[in-house]
Amino acid sequence: MVLYSRKPNGPIRNRTCSYTAMCPLLARSLREKWGFLHLQHEPGPRSTLSVMMPRRLLLAYVSGLVLTGGLLLAQATSSKSGVQQQPFGTQGGRPVNLYTLTNSHGVEIKAMSYGGIILSIRVPDRKGQFADIVLGHETLEGYIPNPPYLGAIVGRYANRIANGTFTLDGKTYTLPKNDGPNTLHGGVDKTFNKVVWDGEPLKGKSGVAFTYLSKDGEEGFPGNLKVKVTYTLTDENELVIEYEATTDKATPINLSQHSYFNLAGEGTSDILNHEVMLNADRFTPVDKNLIPTGELRPVKGTPFDFTSPTKIGARIDDTYDQIVLGHGYDHNWVINRKGDGLTLAARVYEPTSGRVLEVSTTQPGVQFYAGNFLDGTVTGKQGHIYKRRYGLCLETQHFPDSPNHPDFPSTILKPGETFKSKTVFKFSTK
Ligand code: GLA
Repeated sequence: MVLYSRKPNGPIRNRTCSYTAMCPLLARSLREKWGFLHLQHEPGPRSTLSVMMPRRLLLAYVSGLVLTGGLLLAQATSSKSGVQQQPFGTQGGRPVNLYTLTNSHGVEIKAMSYGGIILSIRVPDRKGQFADIVLGHETLEGYIPNPPYLGAIVGRYANRIANGTFTLDGKTYTLPKNDGPNTLHGGVDKTFNKVVWDGEPLKGKSGVAFTYLSKDGEEGFPGNLKVKVTYTLTDENELVIEYEATTDKATPINLSQHSYFNLAGEGTSDILNHEVMLNADRFTPVDKNLIPTGELRPVKGTPFDFTSPTKIGARIDDTYDQIVLGHGYDHNWVINRKGDGLTLAARVYEPTSGRVLEVSTTQPGVQFYAGNFLDGTVTGKQGHIYKRRYGLCLETQHFPDSPNHPDFPSTILKPGETFKSKTVFKFSTK
């Protein structure tokens, strides 16, 4: 839009008015206030000036309006991105809150204080069409119970501990078993996916911090463990997850996020058409109970080689022993890394939508779980039935059963230390 003004018989002044272009309200207000200002889209006829005003006054007035318009615009933009908190029911007598994170591109993530569960992630496809790309439910009740751990924070020990036992500093600890002979994702009752966390919106960010005190002896683990998990949505379309924990007694700790992704849109199809790249030359083979044998096996020449992008469906029903034992992919890959920093672990591409998910982490491993145990018994959002392999998880983590594998990177947190880890899920299209 161009703003024209002139003194009687003087030269026409023309200035591109980006504020009026961005703010139709300001444009209308200028038009209504002054007949001698002519606002129009280029190109167009220049009108004769009908009413006059001293030029300085005019400039001051316009500057004032421009400033107001700018402020209104800034406010409008910032109200688009941010975090909103709302009540979302109660669980075990405790109120649960829902947090809606939005960014300036319209990406929206919903998470709640029950289990730190991510309920939805809405991102655009290559044509700009938004869809929800994680499996889940619309209500709190839908998550009770939640046998597949849809969207949840898992801990105190994500993944499996063999035979529900480990020995630390000469003492043997016994945990509740919930996966055949094993303890899976922290136990049975007060596991991190099932407790109500304290939620707090992050100031000046589109984010939320969840904190939880896991008491000494809870689910059989030693020490009072203070845990903090933050979700931040950036304007680069990243979901940044930061984990932090301290303890007053040595304890194993392994924290992860159990969102099931389907980049074509949740509930619409299986994930076999997704192309996956895993930045890992080795994986940890398992026994029949999905417990690592201790070997770090090269992926080369096996269906576990995802060093170049490969469709999940291409080899998921292979006769290779590890595929058979895992009922498909349900294994930990050893991320290729130099140093401790954020490293790309995985890239997933869904060809029909063009959506891409990149996962970077400071953790040593990633459990790529292809949703083999989803069996159509869970009905999720919009009545969608979650059938076998309708979602995939990329659970960044330490290796499974590390407390019983002294050769694996240690998962023991000691008093005085702070556990810290970070995982970034970045959404884009191609
Ligand atoms: C993890 C495990 C899977 C399965 C799911 C939950 O990803 O590795 O074997 O237990 O959690 O269903």
